[in-house]
Amino acid sequence: AEVVILPTKEAAGDLVADAIVRLITSTPDAVLGVATGSTPLPVYRSLAARSAGLDLSRVRAFALDEYVGLPAEHPESYRSVITREVVEPLGLDPQLVHTPNGDAATIQHAGADYEAAIEAAGGVDLQILGIGTDGHIGFNEPGSSFASLTRVKTLTEQTRRDNARFFDSVDDVPRHCITQGLGTILRARHLVLLAFGEAKAEALAAALEGPLTASVPGSAVQLHGHVTVVVDEAAASRLA
Ligand code: F6R
Repeated sequence: AEVVILPTKEAAGDLVADAIVRLITSTPDAVLGVATGSTPLPVYRSLAARSAGLDLSRVRAFALDEYVGLPAEHPESYRSVITREVVEPLGLDPQLVHTPNGDAATIQHAGADYEAAIEAAGGVDLQILGIGTDGHIGFNEPGSSFASLTRVKTLTEQTRRDNARFFDSVDDVPRHCITQGLGTILRARHLVLLAFGEAKAEALAAALEGPLTASVPGSAVQLHGHVTVVVDEAAASRLA
């Protein structure tokens, strides 16, 4: 992987936004893989600031994951988050932006449906990734198979605590999610992994420099031939 260490997350956001602008300029109907959480926000903000004069109307996007059992209109569902942070500020066509369907009634085929939709779109051109403090990418928690496809997973206690900040209390954080698998993520043509802050340093070092292991799902990126890692000094502090 190519590792780029920048002084601030804003600078990191600008760098990745530039790469996305170049992609969309050459491929107006590019397929973006979008992540939720705090990490990618500087990318989306920078992209929104650059979007004047850029035709984003044909850009397609697939989110990594969704909570199971939260109504789509809940403000913390990833459908809502992607609408608020990506679709609206960038002016994307909401019809072209997909999130896994976390509705309990259709969950049995939701994973296969999502895989089929990604495949029908021709795959993801550029996948934005964050990393969890437990080493997850997407919501592929420790123990996830490197060959896994979109499916339901149980969130670890650590992830639920990490995400409690978006809810009134940790008890309100859903226990299950539907997430692209590590195998799904590895099919994207370019992975862009972002991490900021000391809290991510250990997971990042384990993912990039530790052994390939299902115990550190982020280590799967070592299997991919085109990975760009964009981090601040604090997140890079445990790298060799
Ligand atoms: C989000 C996702 C997760 C997050 C990770 C880091 O769609 O798939 O892997 O990227 O939990 O979250 P933040 O960025 O909030 O620290």
